[in-house]
Amino acid sequence: GAKGRANIGVTGMAVMGSNLARNLASREGNTVAIHNRTTEKAERLAADHPDAGFVVARTAQDFADALARPRTAVIMVKAGAPTDAVINELADVFEPGDIIVDGGNADFRDTIRRERELRARGINFVGCGISGGEEGALLGPSLMPGGSAEGYATLGPILQTIAARAPEDGEPCVTHVGTDGAGHFVKMVHNGIEYADMQLIGEAYDLMRRILGMTPAEIADVFDEWNAGELDSYLIEITAQVLRQDDPRGGGPLIDKVLDAAGAKGTGSWTVQNALDLGVPVSGIAEAVFARSLSSDPARRAIGQELPGPERPVRVEDPRVFLADIRGALHAAKIIAYAQGFDEIAAGAGKYGWEIHPGEIARIWRAGCIIRARFLGTITQAYADDPGLVSLLGAPVFAESLGKAQQGWRRVVAAAVYSGVPVPAFATSLAYYDALRSPRLPAALTQLQRDFFGAHTYRRTDDEGSFHVLWSGDR
Ligand code: NAP
Ligand code: ATR
Repeated sequence: GAKGRANIGVTGMAVMGSNLARNLASREGNTVAIHNRTTEKAERLAADHPDAGFVVARTAQDFADALARPRTAVIMVKAGAPTDAVINELADVFEPGDIIVDGGNADFRDTIRRERELRARGINFVGCGISGGEEGALLGPSLMPGGSAEGYATLGPILQTIAARAPEDGEPCVTHVGTDGAGHFVKMVHNGIEYADMQLIGEAYDLMRRILGMTPAEIADVFDEWNAGELDSYLIEITAQVLRQDDPRGGGPLIDKVLDAAGAKGTGSWTVQNALDLGVPVSGIAEAVFARSLSSDPARRAIGQELPGPERPVRVEDPRVFLADIRGALHAAKIIAYAQGFDEIAAGAGKYGWEIHPGEIARIWRAGCIIRARFLGTITQAYADDPGLVSLLGAPVFAESLGKAQQGWRRVVAAAVYSGVPVPAFATSLAYYDALRSPRLPAALTQLQRDFFGAHTYRRTDDEGSFHVLWSGDR
């Protein structure tokens, strides 16, 4: 029968798992065992794709029997309790040395726990971030596996066959990110950066629309032009396409008919929650998450129209100069968002004991995932030039871009403020930039306030140790 025929298995035959299984089956040398709680789904997939040569397993035991040793199986089911249930079911029929991969959107802390539990049973557990949605799963995702080096030795070559390939050098977008939860942590930060990227593009669009009075089609042309330069990215490319889309029901651009209330599934918020715990200021990502919440805030509808604002937008002297300013501001704010995201990865690595190579992370995000962009190659190069980089802003290439953009960036934020157009991500990233630049911050005042009301002590610029003032207000 099917005994030991498959070199890889996938369980969880919803959209992601089915597409991943088909991707695996399409690569030379792979025989793929498929399994699903509701068996019919696996049978249907095999029937719909006879060329894939799937080995259908009806039970967990069948699944284990179908796999060659060391067994390698990918779980693609709902994150949370369902993932735990499937892991336990497989662990009961698998043996020491086998590899279980969770490709779902797990919380990295769950991944750390699961890895520990399975390691105790001799099983290699790999938490693998998978980006690129349905299409990525089928044609080539960006893969972020975390787990033991031993597990990766078997799994890595298989993942390399299905990963997206970077257009620049054809390299597969997969690397051994680090141990236990490292892959899911990096996937989480990827999504946070994705939120920031999308929000910044949204703000650039809004400025063109409300201050320059441009139509969606005209704005699409601008994004197409920008996509040929330093902003070249999947998100800019699809933005132009989205803005050209007419309402299928007629009557003009679709964007004007779409409810302007954005939702979120959660990984963007996770990025910010963890950054708060780690003490890393990911302000650009946070504003992007908050902007989605704010868009859905009932107060907008209830009282928004009654709040006074400027009568009309500022008059822009030369629209071409303002467009160039927005372009520079978008690039600058994007650099800030990525710098903050990479800071969070470094802090997470420090706290959880992962050896993560940031240049490698940028490398595997160059294709397959939503934030794929030419820009990521520049990040990889920056870390190659200086592996000890304290912040991306310290890389000469980015410092230079920020220096060139900063005056226009200020004009853009000022014009937005005077016009009453909200640009939270543009503004907070500029504030971050200026805070980093400032030789003195009012944090000195904060320290003295804390010493005054709570005797928290302060430190001095000219002496070691902690000091306290006997404030006259002390009781
Ligand atoms: P999904 O809707 O998240 O999950 C459905 C699958 O989970 C089905 O195979 C279902 O089996 C199985 N399942 C649910 N509860 C179960 C339980 N208690 N025991 C056993 N199996 C159970 O599917 P998806 O959208 O394809 O996503 C799969 C995973 O990939 C998720 O973790 C998701 O977050 C992640 N992901 C999704 C995307 C995306 O773009 N959608 C991208 C990257 C990662 P039955 O058929 O028997 O109900
Ligand atoms: P990618 O890295 O390709 O974006 P993803 O994180 O799974 O992969 O997100 C793809 C899309 O699926 C996003 O629209 C995401 O929604 P949010 O932008 O609101 O986060 C959505 N998504 C993510 N996790 C999901 C889940 N567990 N169930 C359903 N949709 C999910």
